[in-house]
Amino acid sequence: MSVSKVGLHAIENASIDELRGLQLERLKHTLNHVYKNSPVYKAKFDAHGVHPDDLKQLSDLSKFPTTTKADLRDNYPFGMFSKPMEDVVRIHASSGTTGKPTVVGYTQNDIDTWADVVARSIYAAGGRSTDIVHISYGYGLFTGGLGAHYGAERLGCTVIPMSGGQTAKQVQLIADFNPDIIMVTPSYMLNIADELSRQQVDVDKLKLRTGIFGAEPWTEAMRHQMESSLGIDAVDIYGLSEVIGPGVAQECIETRDGLTIWEDHFYPEIIDPVTGEVLPDGQEGELVFTNLSKEAMPVIRYRTRDLTRLLPGTGRVMRRMEKITGRSDDMMIIRGVNVFPSQIEELICKVDGLAPHYQIELTKHGNLDSVTVYAESVTAISLEAQRTLEKELLIQIKTFAGISSSVVVTPPNSIERSEGKAIRVLDNRNK
Ligand code: DLL
Repeated sequence: MSVSKVGLHAIENASIDELRGLQLERLKHTLNHVYKNSPVYKAKFDAHGVHPDDLKQLSDLSKFPTTTKADLRDNYPFGMFSKPMEDVVRIHASSGTTGKPTVVGYTQNDIDTWADVVARSIYAAGGRSTDIVHISYGYGLFTGGLGAHYGAERLGCTVIPMSGGQTAKQVQLIADFNPDIIMVTPSYMLNIADELSRQQVDVDKLKLRTGIFGAEPWTEAMRHQMESSLGIDAVDIYGLSEVIGPGVAQECIETRDGLTIWEDHFYPEIIDPVTGEVLPDGQEGELVFTNLSKEAMPVIRYRTRDLTRLLPGTGRVMRRMEKITGRSDDMMIIRGVNVFPSQIEELICKVDGLAPHYQIELTKHGNLDSVTVYAESVTAISLEAQRTLEKELLIQIKTFAGISSSVVVTPPNSIERSEGKAIRVLDNRNK
């Protein structure tokens, strides 16, 4: 199924019955494939007392066991594969915060599917074959760079494979090559934006019209900030290595109302993160994905840890997911109150005079967790002005996030810049 250079994939406009029919057929196939070819899945299904034949309708999927990062770690590096190594043409890996990376493999067909869904995503973001696409997601084991690259080429765009880092050079190339689209993490885009102004590039003269941002949570407030300072449309792309990489879901430029999940390839469920029970569409919980078309390493009911809810389709027949504002493992519990870094980001973006760069430090005082929020002032300011900003943010955090924190406003350019995924939370509680 290749992407047409002029329009949508046929399935994007199909009827819901056609989509559900395709999903059921593909799901049956995938369950049989992993049962037959992956000793890990055979053992998991047997232990759970389920067989692929037990799936008669899509909702029967809930009878099957979930897969977690621990399954991948326990079978490191290639134990989750459902195809022999001779059929695997590519390996990617995502660095976990601790221990060994999570390893994934692709057949040639998987690489083709991936290019198709990323091409579809760029198309949904308004990209066309005439566009120049500057890619600043990192190339290498991370799926961002190569995933975006193959998709943009599949759509017929002109690709600039810049990768992450070398920020001054990024800006020089953006000024000289004049791309229409940039694909990058939102936190690295902020860094590039700073460099654009340092090099005095007039952003109004650039052709750049769209940023396709993902790989980490970012808020509506951040979107407004980037759209107004760069004069672009900022749209959200979602994905994870375990499922394929970028291009699992994409926000459509014309609706900008959450991300359309490419459901013909990735079957979504929302579960209660504590009980594992499947929740109805519309209710918030943990996002779970099952691959419907992958060969080398399909995952069955993979628990993403990402929190969101499913919404009916608008721009396409497929369902949407709400923008992800947090992962269950990013949630901070401060004296009993649950807070996500994204809530703090929203509040920082609201305070005039603060730049959107920030970091949150967790420390322990006795038995109690304490939070210090570091945020930068846009310009160099007096001590008095600094104290005023600190007080303002502190009140915002107390009022809207419901926690007591310390706030430190630091001079411009003092908070470490990201060249990929930003590290928002420094957990120094055990230091
Ligand atoms: O980050 C794949 C990707 C690359 C997506 C480029 C988009 C763009 P991993 O390194 O495996 O893969 O990390 C996956 O990143 O479970 C989410 O927690 C987070 N994430 C990815 N996209 C978004 C997004 C890539 N748009 C993990 N919003 C996922 C919020 C995101 N979080």
